[in-house]
Amino acid sequence: MAKLIVTTREGETRELASASGQSVMEIIRDAGIDELLALCGGCLSCATCHVLVDPADFTRLSPMTSDENDLLESTDYRQPTSRLSCQIAFDDALDGLHVTIAPDA
Ligand code: FES
Repeated sequence: MAKLIVTTREGETRELASASGQSVMEIIRDAGIDELLALCGGCLSCATCHVLVDPADFTRLSPMTSDENDLLESTDYRQPTSRLSCQIAFDDALDGLHVTIAPDA
């Protein structure tokens, strides 16, 4: 199983193991980290699953779609490595990916 590393807004860092097939948002949600609201359930309409990807990991991700980019533009805390975690399909190739939950909008 690959590991996803998540840092919460309070600065706590956790390692979450996951099989392939889930999005980063689903892994975080299923781990009980409730500060990632993910209100639309992954339908790309809320941006409450916003994470900041570690710069060292950012180029490991598939490029974002124009719809994801447009929705990120509506957030208050967009950074150069911002992504919507529901749009990141996690698999073994992303083992060790580190994301930080973005500030609350
Ligand atoms: S969960 Fe709503 S856009 Fe990701």
